[in-house]
Amino acid sequence: MANREFFVGGNFKMNGSKEKVSKIVSDLNKADLPSNVQVVLCPPFPYLAQVVAENKQATIKVGAQNCYVKESGAYTGEVSPKFLKDLGVDYVILGHSERRQIFKESDEFVAEKVKFALAEGLKVILCIGETIDEKKAGKTLAVCKRELQAVVEKVEDWSDIVVAYEPIWAIGTGLAATSDDAESIHEEIRSYLSTVIGKQASTVRILYGGSANGKNAPTFRGKDNVDGFLVGGASLKPEFADIIKSRE
Ligand code: G3P
Repeated sequence: MANREFFVGGNFKMNGSKEKVSKIVSDLNKADLPSNVQVVLCPPFPYLAQVVAENKQATIKVGAQNCYVKESGAYTGEVSPKFLKDLGVDYVILGHSERRQIFKESDEFVAEKVKFALAEGLKVILCIGETIDEKKAGKTLAVCKRELQAVVEKVEDWSDIVVAYEPIWAIGTGLAATSDDAESIHEEIRSYLSTVIGKQASTVRILYGGSANGKNAPTFRGKDNVDGFLVGGASLKPEFADIIKSRE
């Protein structure tokens, strides 16, 4: 079994309220969470400081769902990695398929963001994944390689990057990839990474995302290249604690 710490991210997306976020955090504060699982809660920007302040679990860190490529300036509406560090935020999700598809973020722009966020001291959850058409055309690995290569060209040190493979056709659909299929793709992703970043590839965590939930998470046990989950909808529900415990 690989010696990579299990990692569970909770991507709240554009959901929540002060009350709902407080309830999620207080429930997790009361949960008996395993000491060997890194958890990262990623609420919408307005609730980041609240989660940092209310979290009591040593194994829980806070992440943002996006950031910009500049430290400060005339970029209305954007959020600097510097602000996130200022708030006590440690992680940022970058390249999520919703940023790529809805907000037209290119591979190049995502890679620029990754490089800048790392330089500003944030850890990065880098999302990759294919559409259903790309999957049907047998292009899954080619798409993942293309998205990773853009970052490889700008970043040499991957020690603060966690990769999240999120097949777009599984996001929000309730139709998660099977654990065998996920393991197979993750193995190919890790094999590709070893050709471009060398030995670091054995320590980079590769998460699965896309309709992960309390029921299917245990089926990923024993999948050596699945190092955790990036969870959307289920991160807003009590079953999120079950996903965190799913390797026990
Ligand atoms: O970033 C995680 C997200 O894209 C997965 O969403 O709701 O399918 O777990 P969901």
